[in-house]
Amino acid sequence: MLDINFTPFPQLSTERLLLRKLIDEDAEQLFKLRSNPKVMKHIGKKPMTSIDEAKDFIKMINGLLEENSGITWAMALKENPEKMIGTFGLWRIMKEHYRAEIGYMLFPEFWQKGLTKEAMVTVLTYGFQKLKLHSIEGRITPLNTASAKVLEGAGFVKEAYFKEDFFFNGQFEDTAIYSLLSRNFTGGSL
Ligand SMILES: CC(C)(COP(=O)(O)OP(=O)(O)OC[C@H]1O[C@@H](n2cnc3c(N)ncnc32)[C@H](O)[C@@H]1OP(=O)(O)O)[C@@H](O)C(=O)NCCC(=O)NCCS
Repeated sequence: MLDINFTPFPQLSTERLLLRKLIDEDAEQLFKLRSNPKVMKHIGKKPMTSIDEAKDFIKMINGLLEENSGITWAMALKENPEKMIGTFGLWRIMKEHYRAEIGYMLFPEFWQKGLTKEAMVTVLTYGFQKLKLHSIEGRITPLNTASAKVLEGAGFVKEAYFKEDFFFNGQFEDTAIYSLLSRNFTGGSL
């Protein structure tokens, strides 16, 4: 069984980004992010409607962190570390299977600049090298072509496709599951 300890918080950095702890002061940005219809289009969760939801979300994230069962980083540009521009997480950690699920989102003004790709290498390196995960999965609706590109670009392979397994907004949606094994990760450094 995997033994995980997120204390002290593993702050990470990439060429342009700081991946830091999500704090109460991020609530307003988090609310803006998770209430943005463009960002939430393929997330399978209702957009947030109040800042209190964002505050509760941060509490939930920090609860998972304390239990060592999930980690979410706030993404910020190194030149402006206080301003959260997105989130990146490893959650649904299945310790008995050395496996976790990855998730990420950022504000549209920062899309298509390679920032997710950059953060992805660092988070995968952390997941495989430090946490000792054996595999990491990404679950997406097949309509999320941007996310599919991100996963494929990082070496993930589409391993499963479930038809109409996800009921959301009155509709049954498909799910594609991508996975990356630690031995197939070409690597990065922390
Ligand atoms: C998915 C998301 C995080 C991608 O972030 P991003 O920072 O724009 O991605 P990057 O700039 O790092 O691009 C990585 C690769 O994906 C490709 N890509 C990104 N967005 C794309 C799009 N909309 N259409 C086609 N390709 C796209 C890039 O061209 C790049 O390809 P390359 O490796 O061949 O150069 C962003 O679109 C987002 O926040 N979406 C809303 C939230 C979401 O759906 N999250 C995923 C939930 S599963």
